[in-house]
Amino acid sequence: MGFRSDMRVLWHLVTSKAASGTNHQERLEAFYSGQREAYDSFRRRLLHGRERMMELLPLPRTGGTLIDMGGGTGSNLEALGDRIQGLEKASVLDLCPSLLQVARERIAQKGWNNVEVIHGDATRHLPPQPVDAVTFSYSLTMIPDWFDAVAHAWNILKPGGVIGVVDFYVPRKWPDAGRKRGSGFTRSFWPSWFGYDNVFLSPDHLPFLSRRFEPVLVEEERGKVPYMFGMKAPYYIFIGKKI
Ligand SMILES: C[S@@+](CC[C@H](N)C(=O)[O-])C[C@H]1O[C@@H](n2cnc3c(N)ncnc32)[C@H](O)[C@@H]1O
Repeated sequence: MGFRSDMRVLWHLVTSKAASGTNHQERLEAFYSGQREAYDSFRRRLLHGRERMMELLPLPRTGGTLIDMGGGTGSNLEALGDRIQGLEKASVLDLCPSLLQVARERIAQKGWNNVEVIHGDATRHLPPQPVDAVTFSYSLTMIPDWFDAVAHAWNILKPGGVIGVVDFYVPRKWPDAGRKRGSGFTRSFWPSWFGYDNVFLSPDHLPFLSRRFEPVLVEEERGKVPYMFGMKAPYYIFIGKKI
């Protein structure tokens, strides 16, 4: 995986394969199917804070359940380290068959027999029992009705369960107390740049999450974007508890 695979990913990004398809799942598949092999290598340098969010996520020592919504290739589960063995079940849920195939291969290769793959919609999937943790790693910005996905996560969590989110966002011009302010450039450039590929950055994720859940940890950072010559895109980590 090197320059050639990066170029394949960039080709998919600039030709906006995300535009083809008559529904959300078809658009995701059109966007990701040609880059699934190169996905993990490229996104490691673009999607910052994923390991940190997973490492900091509070989970029961044994017997917990977790759903990674829009979990894609399942790579984030690796950041749980040994804690994954203590879980009763972890589920990687996604709408995109190509990325889920990579997740299946990873699960088999790791020998994780408590991890399952679910082809489903993050706004609708009902687990058999309420769960201990729900995570969204760079998936809320790709879910058109992201507010439904957050409300749905609240519904399927046990009381005291946790939500962990990491994603790009737009820092508000007039943010809540304690939150960072975004410049005019940041607030206009990054949403247009990512919107081209159906990644919709929002100023409302953090305020909405903070009102639905009791915040346990909120971090607002900036991360490098490959081939963007030192430019850094804003992202946040939110961990909250259902009360
Ligand atoms: C940028 S990728 C992130 C994948 C993975 N979480 C990661 O951190 O590498 C966004 C993911 O959200 C998935 N997705 C978008 N809308 C979805 C929906 N409504 N339900 C389930 N997954 C969805 C996409 O298929 C894709 O795998």
